[in-house]
Amino acid sequence: MRLRPAPLEDWLRDNYFTADIDISSSGVETYTMAELRSKAGVRQADLDELVFDDGYSLGRPALREVIARGWGNGDPACVMTANGSSEAISLVLSSMLGPGDEVVVVSPGYHLLVEYAVALGCTTRSWRLPAEHGFRPDVDDLEPLVSERTRAIVLNFPQNPTGAGITEPELRRIVALAGRVGAYLLWDAAFTSLVYDTAPLPPVSRLYERGIDFGTFSKAFGLPGLRFGWCVAPPDVLDACVHIRDYTTLHVAPLVELLALAVLENADSFLKPRLEQATRNRALVADWAEAERERVSLALPDGGVAAFPRILGLDNTDAFCDELFKRHGVLVIPGSCFGEPGHVRLGFGGATAELTRGLERVSEALAG
Ligand SMILES: Cc1ncc(COP(=O)(O)O)c(C=O)c1O
Repeated sequence: MRLRPAPLEDWLRDNYFTADIDISSSGVETYTMAELRSKAGVRQADLDELVFDDGYSLGRPALREVIARGWGNGDPACVMTANGSSEAISLVLSSMLGPGDEVVVVSPGYHLLVEYAVALGCTTRSWRLPAEHGFRPDVDDLEPLVSERTRAIVLNFPQNPTGAGITEPELRRIVALAGRVGAYLLWDAAFTSLVYDTAPLPPVSRLYERGIDFGTFSKAFGLPGLRFGWCVAPPDVLDACVHIRDYTTLHVAPLVELLALAVLENADSFLKPRLEQATRNRALVADWAEAERERVSLALPDGGVAAFPRILGLDNTDAFCDELFKRHGVLVIPGSCFGEPGHVRLGFGGATAELTRGLERVSEALAG
């Protein structure tokens, strides 16, 4: 298996720690340990009493129960905790896919959700979200890509990088398409709770026996550095995952699981303030795009905290993003990292003051 480098990670690795203003992230403003402990009621004594034993292959039982209830199909046997959702997604894909399998992916999309299947020797069929229609997904375009040969459909709505969402009736239509051919439906729910005008979509593991949900602390929860995620999948899929993980990470660290359990038991106190901030910030981005409409075209995201405007008159924004970083100190993501070089990805989940200053500087750079 040979993975191609992920340009998004190369760009961030080079620039993330030195940016003056970071409006690149697809996550909300991050929390400190003190904030985590206070919101989740973790005492110093809880930390001191922790013994650094090995952990459970599929996760600590109490944690699996909480995830099953709140983010899955209710059955703890279907839950695996992971070192970020990246680990869960890569394990599930590795366990179920092989050369020649057909996999439906979304384009543009997050590299892991596309490149892993390519590296595993699969044939990918791309469900293209049309840039000319603001990346709005049309399930009619998906339907002809799904056939008896489809092993898995890998989706993520609200979507990275476009912020496009789908409705529950559309999700149910997709579930029916997968069900008709017996394909697994892999559902990256990283942004499920970051929606603005609709209710969050239900977990697909509740709708379909081959529906697999992935969750993460890295986006809506504001805890990317904790490296915690999970998946909810049929037990035979998890079994196959464990047999791969036995060669790599073995399990999630007990310290991470201690904190994760406390966070999930108090999820709203992490999610709500950041969703409120993101809602206000999204309105700022909308105002900015309107004021910049001569130079920028933006379909306002339905969910998540990333906007994906087109920079008018530029076929490729790489040099613009480089200049924006070097001369103006502002980090955004070039659209080429997602195969759409005329766009940039702006993150609006962070502190409002930083976003405001960042957008001002983007405007200065656009003005030349
Ligand atoms: C859509 C999507 N899925 C998964 C991930 C990976 O997240 P994690 O930090 O949980 O590994 C990301 C990170 O950017 C993402 O954007």
